[in-house]
Amino acid sequence: MPTVWGTTRVLGVIGWPVRHSFSPPMHNAALEALGLDYVYVPFEVRPADLRAAVDGFRAAGVVGINATIPHKQALLELVDEATPEAELTGTVNTVHFTAERTVGDSTDGPGFVAGLAARGYDVAGREVVLLGAGGSARAVGVSLARAGAGRVTLANRTAARAEAVAALLNERVRPGVARTVAWEGDGLTAALEAAELVVQTTSVGMHPRADELPLELPALRPGAWVVDIVYNPFETRFLRAAAARGATVLNGVEMLVYQGALSLARWTGCEPPIERMREVLVAELRKRAEAG
Ligand SMILES: NC(=O)c1ccc[n+]([C@@H]2O[C@H](COP(=O)([O-])OP(=O)(O)OC[C@H]3O[C@@H](n4cnc5c(N)ncnc54)[C@H](OP(=O)(O)O)[C@@H]3O)[C@@H](O)[C@H]2O)c1
Repeated sequence: MPTVWGTTRVLGVIGWPVRHSFSPPMHNAALEALGLDYVYVPFEVRPADLRAAVDGFRAAGVVGINATIPHKQALLELVDEATPEAELTGTVNTVHFTAERTVGDSTDGPGFVAGLAARGYDVAGREVVLLGAGGSARAVGVSLARAGAGRVTLANRTAARAEAVAALLNERVRPGVARTVAWEGDGLTAALEAAELVVQTTSVGMHPRADELPLELPALRPGAWVVDIVYNPFETRFLRAAAARGATVLNGVEMLVYQGALSLARWTGCEPPIERMREVLVAELRKRAEAG
């Protein structure tokens, strides 16, 4: 743990509960690596106390907070200014208390795109299939469309939710960028066969149901990339199936690292130590997995 002085500035994460969060070890390791006089702490905040907590953070000079379940949506109403990602997704996972105003941002989607960019993968112009239509699909879809993805084909078990995300992308980001296909059937098979990038955002395959597969993959296009944003386990059954079909695969750790890195950059203005953040995060995830 860093030494806390009278000068130490405070960052943190709010959630209810918050004890499962990997952000404190990841961010404290990053702050230490950067030699910054900051500390990052967890705050367990009840939903009913959110407004009081935000006012308190502001009054106490806290520099920034991350938010996890269940605060991401309610926070949007409590900031003075929302970034386009926060406004479009209707969620805030990062708050920055500046001298002038309180800014809400959503770094999940940009973190997803940044993780790919760091591997040399540019999403611009790409034919994408996005599986799922929950909160993370909305964030990833918005950022893919904003980053210039050619077309995003959405498929979700509950079709109406996929249609809602597609409408958001078409009406608020770029007309014609999104379409939907049924969760099962030839439309999805054809879309998967044609995709340059497949993104799995459902919770299927996540611990403790790691033996589950959201769907059977058909033959993939040569050179296809497949990302599963699930990070526990590191390698889902879906990613193993994609690798067996010759795809370049990436797990959810990158998105988790880069969403944190983007928050840290906003608060401190420093270049985040990505390698160190990933190293600590992976070590903590392994410890959690070993503990069951
Ligand atoms: N790597 C990261 O940084 C990161 C960030 C956020 C989330 N995640 C991971 O992403 C996953 C989803 O999170 P979320 O917040 O988007 O969850 P969410 O809002 O609850 O959405 C869950 C999604 O999974 C689908 N789903 C659930 N069970 C299914 C099943 N049996 N068959 C088919 N589809 C099913 C849901 O479909 P319906 O609409 O039909 O219910 C929905 O599309 C979680 O595993 C989470 O850990 C990772």
